[in-house]
Amino acid sequence: MISFEHVTKRYEVAERPAVDDLTIDVPDAMVTILIGPSGSGKSTTMRMVNRLIEPTSGVVRLGGADVRDLDVEDLRRGIGYAIQGVGLFPHWTVHENVGVVPWLLKWPQPKIDARVRDLLDLVGLEPDVYDGKYPDELSGGEAQRVGVARALAADPPVLLMDEPFGAVDPLTRDRLQAEFTKIQQALRKTVVFVTHDIDEALKLGDRIAIMREGRLVQFDKPECVIAYPADDFVSDFVGSERALKRLSLARVAGVASETATNDWAASVPRSATLREALARILETGEREIGVSDESGNIIGSVGLEDVFAHFERPVE
Ligand SMILES: Nc1ncnc2c1ncn2[C@@H]1O[C@H](COP(=O)(O)OP(=O)(O)OP(=O)(O)O)[C@@H](O)[C@H]1O
Ligand SMILES: [Mg+2]
Repeated sequence: MISFEHVTKRYEVAERPAVDDLTIDVPDAMVTILIGPSGSGKSTTMRMVNRLIEPTSGVVRLGGADVRDLDVEDLRRGIGYAIQGVGLFPHWTVHENVGVVPWLLKWPQPKIDARVRDLLDLVGLEPDVYDGKYPDELSGGEAQRVGVARALAADPPVLLMDEPFGAVDPLTRDRLQAEFTKIQQALRKTVVFVTHDIDEALKLGDRIAIMREGRLVQFDKPECVIAYPADDFVSDFVGSERALKRLSLARVAGVASETATNDWAASVPRSATLREALARILETGEREIGVSDESGNIIGSVGLEDVFAHFERPVE
């Protein structure tokens, strides 16, 4: 676990601290999102974990140890770090970029080669095609994938990701998010993920920390941030479509009822979100539609009543 205990970072020139008395426990094997406006201290918070920045006061712990007591090189090799704009070495191939940490760790070359191929596969880049390319031969989305592969290279238990999908178009971003979700389900890293984008936060986060002017405003599950925003700042930040966002966090599988009939005008897969189900209901003009399993068989139904009931259910 990563924990921040009354951590403050103050720059001499600034009138307010960049990070102000931050206390937070980042749970293991989950994605914790840091979100907030520009200048709210997200990157500073993250960079105090791998000691790119030292706090003015307070303690940052990793697995119980004060990070200042750890050897800084060892510390950084145990932490994957992916940043916006990626920061690939321009004169190194994709292979060399992804393999850099294993190389520093003096892994034998065949082991590095195998690892790089596995990782390129994992992030959806055909190894034979991409291995020998240079960064300036990659699209923005491909470069971001290489950045994520590099962060995962030495199989670190902790990943720090600072707007890793920031600089790509919405479609590529959706794809990267979906891939990230898949990878995280398999690998269960402890991830700290910085973003500006509330939809990205809701999609990827197990916990969301909302920051404002260096302070922590709310730290909660996504459902709770939406249902119970701590103050007006958070509810403005979540935006006007709170109800719809809440629906997009719930899966049809959780609310579908079993039905005797399988004669519906339309259906959605049980993996769909309630928001997608509502859209389908509105499109078809039916009060209720079918729910199908992975093979397309109808297994139940979902209707407007289920959508309303979802709002009445308390969020834990
Ligand atoms: N080296 C520095 N010297 C002085 N002030 C700094 C320095 N680095 C950051 N700051 C200030 O600290 C505050 C927090 O910066 P930080 O980079 O953590 O914000 P952020 O939330 O990551 O913002 P963004 O979303 O724009 O990346 C800002 O007000 C910034 O101007
Ligand atoms: Mg930043």
